[in-house]
Amino acid sequence: MPLLSGGAGDMLRFITCGSVDDGKSTLIGRLLVDGNAVPDDHLHANGIDGDLAQLVDGLHAERTQGITIDVGYRYFTTARRRYVIADTPGHEQYTRNMATGASTADLAVILVDATKGVRRQTYRHSAIVALMGIRQVVLAINKMDLVGWRQEAFSAIAATYRALTAPLALPTVTAIPMSARLGDNVIDLGAHMPWYDGPALLEHLESVDVASPHGGLFRFFVQWITRDEVTTFRGYAGTVLGGSIRAGEEIVVLPSGKQSRIARIVTADGDLAEASVGQAVTLALADEIDVSRGDLLAAPDGRPPQLADQLAAHLLWLDEAPMLPGRPYLMRLGPATMTATVSELKHQLDIDDGTHKAAKQLAANEIGFANLALDRPMPFDRYDDNRDTGGFVLIDRLTNATVGAGMIRFPLRRAANLRWHDFTVNRGQRSAIKGHRPAVLWFTGLSGAGKSTIADGVEKRLLALGHHTYTLDGDNVRHGLNRDLGFTAADRVENIRRVIETAHLMADAGLIVLVSFISPFRAERARARERLGGDFFFAEIFVDTSLDECERRDPKGLYRKARAGSLQNFTGLDSPYEPPEQPDLHLRTTASTIDAEVEQVLGILRHHGVLDRPDPLRS
Ligand code: ADX
Repeated sequence: MPLLSGGAGDMLRFITCGSVDDGKSTLIGRLLVDGNAVPDDHLHANGIDGDLAQLVDGLHAERTQGITIDVGYRYFTTARRRYVIADTPGHEQYTRNMATGASTADLAVILVDATKGVRRQTYRHSAIVALMGIRQVVLAINKMDLVGWRQEAFSAIAATYRALTAPLALPTVTAIPMSARLGDNVIDLGAHMPWYDGPALLEHLESVDVASPHGGLFRFFVQWITRDEVTTFRGYAGTVLGGSIRAGEEIVVLPSGKQSRIARIVTADGDLAEASVGQAVTLALADEIDVSRGDLLAAPDGRPPQLADQLAAHLLWLDEAPMLPGRPYLMRLGPATMTATVSELKHQLDIDDGTHKAAKQLAANEIGFANLALDRPMPFDRYDDNRDTGGFVLIDRLTNATVGAGMIRFPLRRAANLRWHDFTVNRGQRSAIKGHRPAVLWFTGLSGAGKSTIADGVEKRLLALGHHTYTLDGDNVRHGLNRDLGFTAADRVENIRRVIETAHLMADAGLIVLVSFISPFRAERARARERLGGDFFFAEIFVDTSLDECERRDPKGLYRKARAGSLQNFTGLDSPYEPPEQPDLHLRTTASTIDAEVEQVLGILRHHGVLDRPDPLRS
């Protein structure tokens, strides 16, 4: 029996890729049984999930949120190593399942049936393995017994595989001929293939070097801060995510860039001289510098972490609702949460053949390469350097479900040399000379609901009162600034993103801005409130007219066209309208008159002091 002690600290996580037909279950069974492997319940009971990488933490935590990630984990121990096998079923959700399993694996065993050779799925598995940063691949060429144990069959498959996957730049590929059914070359070398002089699979797993390619530079996200008022102790709790750290060593804190030394490494069992990757500890620093939750402590030399508010990443989409560029999502990067939008989807990656294709959105299980913009600069690494500090998940802001996983490829420094410039004349002064506070009235509702009619009425009244206004209207703005946009969900998101920014500029100029756009999605209206409501008076006004009534009125004849099939993606018919849950003003147009509705809008402006004449010198 293998011993449980010995190599217990040395762990190898690997993923098996292939189908039952390729002999995957037979191979795993043989490894576990013939390898005298001890099922490692200890490992299991201690909850290995607890220290899985950030990327998968997010996925695991959100399993209950509607996404089923199908990954089976098996645990076993030999004299040399502890093992975690991630096994994923091959059904149509394979991409997200496999990516989840691969995201924490050090090595992938890619199975090929020797009678079938390299197939489309072999490339697909390898592409996901490459994407998820696995550096060691075992090409397990199985069923050698069915091809007469011939070396030429093995060599030809191995050569085809290497040629096909060359563009993936997999760092190390070890091809092993085997027969899982008969046992040759699984645990030890069998008698049938004397021409093979490499290791058997288990031998290879026992000895393969999976150390970090960059020497494992120290990385540590501050998960929380502990303070003791009496002793004035201040410690930063978290898990070492890269390399190791010793008491007395220098570190840099990001994003501040301040440096200090490690004073103590504290654990529940007393202080340590050193902590290494995977260990949860509390660090105390020698200097009193500002450190916040979510900050990254890192080795000051070697390859430093990146600090940027824009980055390029591969995105794996998980949600049934597609990823739409311009839509704000929450990004979780380590313990930090921020708002992120895809500023540009560069391409979609076809994992069946590695080709790139143009795409405007990503559906579930699709992979894309995208630029993302964050709401503030964040420290991170490239995913290939450190999966914990270079991987992130995206979360839907309204449902809180995990919708995407990202692997950071590089930072973008576009805005790095831009500084916000404050001018002497500010927005308060600009609006004060107009006799009001800057404001945005956001009208939302179906086409034909009466948004523009009410906005028109409000604007007339405001003009009569001497206020300076402007109405941004969906149809009008689509004649110019947004002329390039249609009515797909992706285009509507971009339509609203631009109009939010335009309204911001106009309100900044001091105007009362009326926005009259269908703006059918809650996520974009939430973004409008966030972006505009922070700087100006903002009210979301729901012009609530039923679909039946809009269709009956049909002022532009569009419902008729849409019903006749000559207009696609029409809001309320084949494109959704998500009604506001808590509008600031809810106008039920069939139970009211336009004059009364205009009066209600003016009422909220008066009520919130928007129309009070401010003193320009005190603004
Ligand atoms: S939004 O959904 O992106 O906010 P927006 O307010 O700019 O829409 O434009 C809506 C106007 O475009 C409608 O009032 C209507 O006149 C016109 N229109 C043309 N095609 C469509 C369509 N497929 N769906 C909705 N409105 C359309």
